[in-house]
Amino acid sequence: SQNIYILGIESSCDDTAASVIYNGRILSNVIATQKIHEEYGGVVPELASRAHQQNIVPVVDQALKKANIKKDQLNAIAFTRGPGLMGSLLVGTSFAKSLAFGLNIPLIDVNHMQAHILAHFIDEEGFDKPQFPFLAMTISGGHTQIVKVASYFDMTVIGETIDDAVGEAYDKSGKILGLGYPAGPEIDRRAQLGNPKAYKFTRPKVAGLNFSFSGLKTAILYFIQRETKVNPNFITENLNDICASIQYTIIGILMDKLKMATKETGIKRIAIGGGVSANSGIRQILKESEQKFGWTTYIPKFEFTTDNAAMIAIVGYLKYLNQDFAQHDTLASARLKI
Ligand code: KG4
Ligand code: ZN
Repeated sequence: SQNIYILGIESSCDDTAASVIYNGRILSNVIATQKIHEEYGGVVPELASRAHQQNIVPVVDQALKKANIKKDQLNAIAFTRGPGLMGSLLVGTSFAKSLAFGLNIPLIDVNHMQAHILAHFIDEEGFDKPQFPFLAMTISGGHTQIVKVASYFDMTVIGETIDDAVGEAYDKSGKILGLGYPAGPEIDRRAQLGNPKAYKFTRPKVAGLNFSFSGLKTAILYFIQRETKVNPNFITENLNDICASIQYTIIGILMDKLKMATKETGIKRIAIGGGVSANSGIRQILKESEQKFGWTTYIPKFEFTTDNAAMIAIVGYLKYLNQDFAQHDTLASARLKI
């Protein structure tokens, strides 16, 4: 058996991350989250690339130190090629190329969306790896997809959002309610204290397995404007109920499409990934669906749901086993498809 050390580098959005994995096991998983965007209520691309530039060397250095290995022990460098913000991707891509070139080792390009799914194949005690084929629902601030996964690198997108991502629905609703950014965690926390049926928001009508979330944001905006005209304290007096109702609507939308996807494909193994899979409501309803619908569900460890480099490193490892390497003139791609 071989002893393979892979360094993974992630810089697609606003987190600079590096991770070393040894065979399939994580030795280090370092992440520098950029706080600067909070005051702007969303990620500012220009500021994100600058922060990546500042953080990348210290983050990689820490990942190597925590893994207790030297640079020259690495077998390959894996990096996020896309999708993401171009200025952010360029920092990780250029750094990964230079390091691979300097160390004279292979370079491996990784698709960020595949990585969110293949994070389920990190060796982690207490977590089962999905059996093929399975359905993966990736839900985050940047993406919302249902993917049919036939094998590691045979993936088909069978549904995706036609406008906003589900995390954006959370964050934009939060903005309307005057909550901080990102609003997902607070809406989730308050939702658990409120009545999910207090207010009803109509669900979007989108054909097939695709999603739409921009209409929901508008519906919430009009609802809040209408109610605060009558009672200026409407939000503060009813915040938990409002959050619970928003969360109930969003989870309803996600579950409807998942149910439809299991019917269409006959596949009842469901894995989730992306920042929104930290949501308590979605975790609970998925657990319940095991009994209710006979599904097998896979919910990753929290640190592998949000953007991280361990998921990039595990894809690097799987590609390394296939000797599937990138050329040094590979370009970052903001709209890279699965
Ligand atoms: O995967 P991620 O860290 O970054 C990308 O967007 O790629 O996801 C961040 C998103 C944000 O929109 C945030 O509001 C949402 O995930 N989020 C949540 C929760 N935790 C994070 N949404 C709902 N419930 C949560 N508990
Ligand atoms: Zn992501």
